Amino acid sequence: MSKPIRSAVRPQKFSDERFYDRVGFLLCRKVASFRPAVIHADHHDGMGCTPTCLADRPVTSRGIPFLYVERPTLVPSGRRFVSTMTFAFARRIQHAPASFLGELFRVSSDPSIISFAGGLPSSALIDTGGLSDAARDVFDTDPRTALQYSTTDGYRPLREYIAARYRKRLGIPATADEIQITNGSQQCLDLFAKIFLNPGDRVGMERPGYLGAIEAFSLYEPEFTAVPLDHEGPDPGAFSKMMRETPVKFFYGIPNSQNPSGCTYSQDRRREIAEMLKGTSTVFYEDDAFGELFFDGKPRLPVKRFLPGNAVISGSFSKTTAPGMRIGWLYAPPEILPAFNTAKQAADLHSNFLCQQILHRYLTTNDLDCHIRKIIAVYSRQCRLMCDLFDDLMPALSHTTPEGGMFLTATLPAGLHAMKVFEEGIRQKVAVLPGMPFFVDGGGTDTIRLNFSNADEEKITEGMHRLAGVISGLS
Ligand SMILES: Cc1ncc(COP(=O)(O)O)c(C=O)c1O
Repeated sequence: MSKPIRSAVRPQKFSDERFYDRVGFLLCRKVASFRPAVIHADHHDGMGCTPTCLADRPVTSRGIPFLYVERPTLVPSGRRFVSTMTFAFARRIQHAPASFLGELFRVSSDPSIISFAGGLPSSALIDTGGLSDAARDVFDTDPRTALQYSTTDGYRPLREYIAARYRKRLGIPATADEIQITNGSQQCLDLFAKIFLNPGDRVGMERPGYLGAIEAFSLYEPEFTAVPLDHEGPDPGAFSKMMRETPVKFFYGIPNSQNPSGCTYSQDRRREIAEMLKGTSTVFYEDDAFGELFFDGKPRLPVKRFLPGNAVISGSFSKTTAPGMRIGWLYAPPEILPAFNTAKQAADLHSNFLCQQILHRYLTTNDLDCHIRKIIAVYSRQCRLMCDLFDDLMPALSHTTPEGGMFLTATLPAGLHAMKVFEEGIRQKVAVLPGMPFFVDGGGTDTIRLNFSNADEEKITEGMHRLAGVISGLS
């Protein structure tokens, strides 16, 4: 029998912002001993709603009702939302804060809204001509093989290309045998967590951390230890405390132009982190989604360079070539790769073989470095413009100044809630992403993430003026 959990959420009218606060965060994080069976908004007049949460029975582990409580705030006026969790979903899905972004993106998909909330690379910089020539070549050469099943580890010539690029760019002795092709680097996060985590195991995360990783890992029901980032990387004191007090199976970090902060680890910090991990069984998971996108064109040495035995790197062609091809990879020591390969085979047999061949043909008949130079020239201009406009128009905010990548984070003036900025932003046709979902241990209500890769300079200028209007109206 379902029983109301009115002690957690009283049936009173909340503003949308308070609804998020009270239900989406307070309930999720602090009163998470209840699993919501049915959550609905009895009333929604466009300004707020009256939530009623029903729990079928208390549960002891962290049930995260995020998924189900977000939607009532977004239903059109007067419509009643009912989420009937009548199916016996596994506990792991209740750990996934998955729909938060989906809903925000849906709200900001209105073409009149200038969106800095998403995370897309620039569509204008995808080399459609080069890729269509490569596709034609593959079809003209051996289409029957190209369209056949293939091996789990991936198209060997592509793995050799990736290994050779590590050797050339970073001077690390990678071989094709250490590379596993995946369906985007996002799949690495899922499969890596799948082979390492039992429920309750600990994972170390940057604070703030990449939301896609939080989502992927959450499905395996870990406990997170968050290590704050400063401008040089993970705080060494907090990192060493984590290693002493709450040893983690792996630490997940993005040393190059982190998402969401834009922070890049200094070389010294990379060494320091590697030193702390040496001789332990903790793996450093190095997500290198943005390592090719430094505005100065210079690569930074990966942590794996200082920790070859227990570091893995995930990489991706999404930001340098085309995200829709969904080609990424894991570069890992031979002790890890067989387990990863087994999980990959069970998940999908192999990544799209046709796309792997098209991509390889493209990479070997075009100059990738030259293409990347074009991308970083554009992103660096857009990033500088966004930073300058913050400084000129919104001096009360502080912001990170990325050396590369696609994102920066801004900190709001004291007392201003990121959800308010998001909601007022939507009204004034500019979307930013509230920082809270990037914080595994709560917080981030005074931060917003902005993407600078997918809006041209004209849009950035107009969008930042709109944002300045939002901030001054709310301050
Ligand atoms: C830090 C980071 N890692 C991984 C990914 C996943 O990218 P993909 O699966 O396209 O390689 C993203 C996507 O934006 C990202 O920002």
